[in-house]
Amino acid sequence: MRVAVVGAGPIGLACAWRLAQRGHAVTVHSDGTLGAWHAAAGMLAPVAEAAFGEHRLTELLVASVRAWPAFAAELGDVGFARSGSLLVGVTPADQAEIARYRSYQDSLGLPVDALSAVEVRQREPALQPGVRAGAYTEIDAQVDPRRLVERLTSAVGAAGVATAGQVRDLSEVDADVTVVAAGCGTAALTGLPIHPVRGETLRLRGGPKLTHLIRGYVHGRHVYLVPRPDGELVVGATSTEDTDPRPSAGGVHELLSDAIALVPGVREAVFTEVTVGFRPATPDNLPIVDVVRPGLVVAAGHYRNGIALTPWTAERVVTLVEAAR
Ligand code: GLY
Repeated sequence: MRVAVVGAGPIGLACAWRLAQRGHAVTVHSDGTLGAWHAAAGMLAPVAEAAFGEHRLTELLVASVRAWPAFAAELGDVGFARSGSLLVGVTPADQAEIARYRSYQDSLGLPVDALSAVEVRQREPALQPGVRAGAYTEIDAQVDPRRLVERLTSAVGAAGVATAGQVRDLSEVDADVTVVAAGCGTAALTGLPIHPVRGETLRLRGGPKLTHLIRGYVHGRHVYLVPRPDGELVVGATSTEDTDPRPSAGGVHELLSDAIALVPGVREAVFTEVTVGFRPATPDNLPIVDVVRPGLVVAAGHYRNGIALTPWTAERVVTLVEAAR
């Protein structure tokens, strides 16, 4: 089949790659803008990111994260690392929040262990001494979304995928099946209810050595720290409904002060970047990966989980496209 994929973020590229591997003639349409993936930290964290009431999403995340090692191995160096997550809190209320999450995660059958203060500090000596207890899960991992896009771009090129420019209206596309994977831009193309949720992430270098993803609760706020094996540290993320593409002083302050509250040595790190991204959110936080009408498949609305759900989405889209034959 002739398949057009609209969108060249990880989701669009992974769909194009898998479809080309199946022998379809694929063209990727892109407007060249950087999507949410450019800000994303690349947490593959179904346990640390499990949210109350989102059982279906957690199931998808667990399935996709299990597919990640083979997916990464096929692509080459995308910064995949099985870091595991530590969930830690600063105040007694933050620690109580972790205990509440842990019982929810337990109820879903997710592997998560309570850790004593000694065990937390053995795992991450750079955490501030006031972090008295927490939890650990081994299944959470990470990739570098920017390397992922680089590797996928090479992979689609090698698989013979063609490239074309921006699509403003789907009537411009000449294909047997069109896959819209345009993140927040999917709403304007399809009318589906996908709206932007703004987030800021920070990048630092030369800070304290950390080996786990750290999911922290600091005075009721959430913060995460993703230490890359190459020494970069990504700190995220704010979450607001405004649409300003410029970073805010308040967002940077909040993320830095929460990161320093958890890991005081972050003070010594070199601040290299603040990035603003727009998560493509849906009303129920589930991605929309479905046939919308004959010849039109949508793979969008991945909200906080686009990187984690990339392998699952690409497999699902192949099935949907081929069923549209
Ligand atoms: N998945 C992390 C975030 O959206 O901030």
